[in-house]
Amino acid sequence: MTKTAIVSALLDEQRGLLGQLQNATKQVRAGRTFWSGLWGDLEVVLVLSKVGKVAAASTTATLIEAFGVKRILFTGVAGGLGDGVRVGDVVVAQEFLQHDLNSSPMFARYEIPLYGRARLPCDDTLTALLLKAANAGLTRAGSHFHHDILIADPCVHTGLVASGDQFVSCAEDATRLRADLQAAGHDALAVEMEGAAVAQVCFDHGVPFAAMRTISDRADDKAHIDFSAFIQQVASPYALAIVQEFMKLLSKR
Ligand code: ADE
Repeated sequence: MTKTAIVSALLDEQRGLLGQLQNATKQVRAGRTFWSGLWGDLEVVLVLSKVGKVAAASTTATLIEAFGVKRILFTGVAGGLGDGVRVGDVVVAQEFLQHDLNSSPMFARYEIPLYGRARLPCDDTLTALLLKAANAGLTRAGSHFHHDILIADPCVHTGLVASGDQFVSCAEDATRLRADLQAAGHDALAVEMEGAAVAQVCFDHGVPFAAMRTISDRADDKAHIDFSAFIQQVASPYALAIVQEFMKLLSKR
């Protein structure tokens, strides 16, 4: 059976997912707790990525090498960069790029040295399933919320996501980041701290990968406000609803 990993950036998000796991067993490895079990008829491993690109790469390598996972789904939150990408929306990644990678003049800015490219793609098939799941999950979760945070008509976007070892929390930084990326031909919808690293390890191992991020902030001066309330009341129920839909679609294939 093809083992699927679901990697979460946040503990609150993982709690809901863990509740769905049957016959869960726990294993600690490389400083991480891996939960193995069944999600319906599919074998699943749940783990927290920890924060930042190196931590996420280490988690991904362990999932592939030690747990033998054959596909990876990532859930988390991100700052919105693109026009119309609002707090409460969901971004399904098509590609990832490291916005803090710069080996110029040896390589073009953002290019991953010796890979001949800046962007790494997500798996087409898994991403198409995730897009379907995100639309279905958002409709389901949206109508059941009782939270203080008003999210009007959340929508699903899909495209490029930029990752870097920096929490972007200043409008000026976000504007510069977006302008620099655009000058090099990259139009990023959102910014976060892990996805591109997971994408690179998956690319190295030929493991299909898909990722979704709920937009928690606009990467500006308000980016830190009510972060934990948002995670508990919005991002975690979204992640659960979307992953449930995704797993349903996956087991029907
Ligand atoms: N994750 C959520 N919001 C973020 C931001 N503004 N910058 C980086 N990672 C994030």
